[in-house]
Amino acid sequence: MIKMTVRQLAEILCAMSFLLCIAIACSEGSDPDPIAEEDLSEEYYTGGKLGTAFNATSFAYEQPTPVVEADADMMVRFKIGEGFFENEFTTNASGIRSGLGPVSVRSSCLTCHPGYGHGKRMERYRAKDYGNGYLLVVIDQNDNYVPQLTGMPQTQAVPPFLPPIDESGIHIEWKNHTDQYGNIFPDGESYSLIYPEVTIDREAINVPMPDFYKVRLEATIGLYGTGLIDAIPDDSLIAQYELEKARGFTLNDAKYRPENFIKEVDGTSHPGRYTYGLSRGTLQNGPGANAIWNITNVTRSDRRYHYITAAYATAMSQNADIQAALGQTEQEIYSYLMSRELPAEMSDKDYTDLMVWHRGLAVPAARNLDDPAVKRGKEKFYEMGCIACHRPSWTTGADDYSGDPMVKGHLPRYPHQKIWPYTDLLQHRLEMVNNIRTGWCRTMPLWGRGLSEKCTGAGEHLHDMRARNYNEAIMWHGGDAQFAKEKYRTLSKTDREAVVKFLESI
Ligand code: HEC
Ligand code: HEC
Repeated sequence: MIKMTVRQLAEILCAMSFLLCIAIACSEGSDPDPIAEEDLSEEYYTGGKLGTAFNATSFAYEQPTPVVEADADMMVRFKIGEGFFENEFTTNASGIRSGLGPVSVRSSCLTCHPGYGHGKRMERYRAKDYGNGYLLVVIDQNDNYVPQLTGMPQTQAVPPFLPPIDESGIHIEWKNHTDQYGNIFPDGESYSLIYPEVTIDREAINVPMPDFYKVRLEATIGLYGTGLIDAIPDDSLIAQYELEKARGFTLNDAKYRPENFIKEVDGTSHPGRYTYGLSRGTLQNGPGANAIWNITNVTRSDRRYHYITAAYATAMSQNADIQAALGQTEQEIYSYLMSRELPAEMSDKDYTDLMVWHRGLAVPAARNLDDPAVKRGKEKFYEMGCIACHRPSWTTGADDYSGDPMVKGHLPRYPHQKIWPYTDLLQHRLEMVNNIRTGWCRTMPLWGRGLSEKCTGAGEHLHDMRARNYNEAIMWHGGDAQFAKEKYRTLSKTDREAVVKFLESI
């Protein structure tokens, strides 16, 4: 235990001093694992021996993995990459983090991923509110994205351009929900449930819209550990799908047809494993790799075009005020917005450094697993069948990661690690009111979530942050998770609290 405390202290200092961190990384070269195995059970190593950081401070989500720490060169690249995630991009034409716009969703990743975690529950949608991790999901009656807007609609623009959506016209209203039990546990304790109702005024949208459209919110997912998730072999994902299929769960089968696997530029194809929608199959072409381009509209050598729709380019190029302000014709403005040959604003080196940082983020180690209440909660979590979807552990493969030849050979690897994300990486339908688009939602990893309040200032849960605590998150479970919720509901208050304590510890 003493050894662990020393390590913890080192990590805390490490977060404060990059130079010291290099020193620690070097001194660790001869002793890569200062914690003796007999001291801690394997479940403390949430991200495996190669992917776990023993740090429970407000910097817990920001730590490099031991693999990065052990390599001074990689550590430098990690710190450079971190700068692209944390700092604002600018509309400057050259220099560091230039090229923001002409339209953007945000000017920095960190605004949406406060403290590297999930976004906060918000009362309003403003792109500049720190912690507003909401993406607007604007869809038609069949839940298809409205094609006049990008899938991640922008509310920011560089003048004279107008944003596709003017955010003053976005309204978020939080409504009360009463469930089939009248929001009361059998033992008399009550809880409250709220959910968002979102509308966007037609006049606030600067592209022609269909007669019907509706709006949902999707909140940010944490970043740490996504490198470890990338190292899980596709075969293991497919085996998990087949196992749950055999158990009779309702699954999103279309996602698991090989012809629907996600095709990458390096010729490989993979089942989805990231995002609520399982829309991304590798970290190298994952939500982060895409966000650095489509959140900011900063071009790079393999994406020399804007994240913009033809409907938007048409609307802007036909706008007389914009033509006058730019002194350009409709055709010139349209050609600029829709060009496929723009200069690259982010260099390949900078992009690769971002990906070193991305794949290099450690998972915070579990805490308090030996506490009797936590042990009791764990017992109940397993007994109630939560683990049917929140699969406790996975083992990574050889981790010859794929997805993008540009970064191949430069990123940290995590072969043969036992990791504890508590997710099956499959989608279920929890059947909640104003549900996520299509109703299909990936089981969210539970690792590290107990540190959310400390690291991000907010401890909300679920895809739109409607649950203000763990208890509410569980009470929103329906569909195939109804049976497990029913068991949780009928636990004693002490046992319910023990379950929450367990969730806070992993
Ligand atoms: C508009 C706010 C916003 C910004 C800015 C943003 N993200 Fe996200 N991020 C999200 C949302 C929302 C999700 C969940 C989306 C989904 O499931 O489709 C997400 C998901 C992710 C995930 C997926 C985690 C998982 O387990 O699937 C990663 C990784 C990620 N973002 C990285 C980044 C990086 C890197 C940046 C900056 C380049 C960034 N994000 C900027 C909102 C944002
Ligand atoms: C049928 C599959 C299934 C079962 C069984 C299940 N869950 Fe979930 N769980 C999910 C899915 C899917 C989500 C994501 C829902 C969303 O974000 O809207 C989720 C989300 C959660 C979250 C919120 C995660 C976050 O931070 O956003 C918690 C906490 C949770 N589950 C706990 C439990 C507990 C405790 C049990 C057992 C009583 C349980 N779950 C049983 C599928 C399941």
